[in-house]
Amino acid sequence: MNKADRLRDLEKEIAADKSLPLQGANLVFGEGNINCAVLFIGEAPGAKEDELKRPFVGRSGQLLDKNLEKIGWKRADVYITNIVKRRPPENRDPSPKEIAAYKPYLTKQIKIIQPKIIVTLGRFSMNYFLPEGKISRDQGKIFSAGGLPAYGGAKGDQGGSSFGGEEYLLMPMFHPAAAMRGTRVMKEFEKTFRRLPKLVRKAAELPKK
Ligand code: URA
Repeated sequence: MNKADRLRDLEKEIAADKSLPLQGANLVFGEGNINCAVLFIGEAPGAKEDELKRPFVGRSGQLLDKNLEKIGWKRADVYITNIVKRRPPENRDPSPKEIAAYKPYLTKQIKIIQPKIIVTLGRFSMNYFLPEGKISRDQGKIFSAGGLPAYGGAKGDQGGSSFGGEEYLLMPMFHPAAAMRGTRVMKEFEKTFRRLPKLVRKAAELPKK
């Protein structure tokens, strides 16, 4: 089965899993280039995302799109999804229980897509990979997965989690919504974003899967 078929099957599997929380909301599976170098993972859909069944199509999505454009990329070049795939009511933070319930499906999605780089947006998706991670300390650092040495981010870099030997680099970023709340975070967000093209070139040197 090819990637597209496997992703379609996975989406059906999630839709059919009635044990998952947040059943009142629409499923927002994810979208983009399934052969992407970079996979972005946010926390959970908001109102606009729930309405359109697409990730990052509200204000946070606009900021994401703007920053992609600034580095000469298109949204269609990357793949975008969330750790929790249905909207929590009133846009509250996803609960640990909700995250735990959706987690195995994110793992499957990553295994199918096999990106070279995973960018987590905000602390919830960062903590999926780095349970001890702290967003203000670790955003913009580069972590390795699959036992590879990390590089480029200098001090503080450490090995990330390995997903069945898959090799990719992990770069946590602030969530775009946090960036919109303050100038300092916005500056960091944009600065980290600008590092992506170089990181993609570096990741191309990773051993072939
Ligand atoms: N915030 C997220 O974390 N994900 C979305 O899809 C939209 C907003």
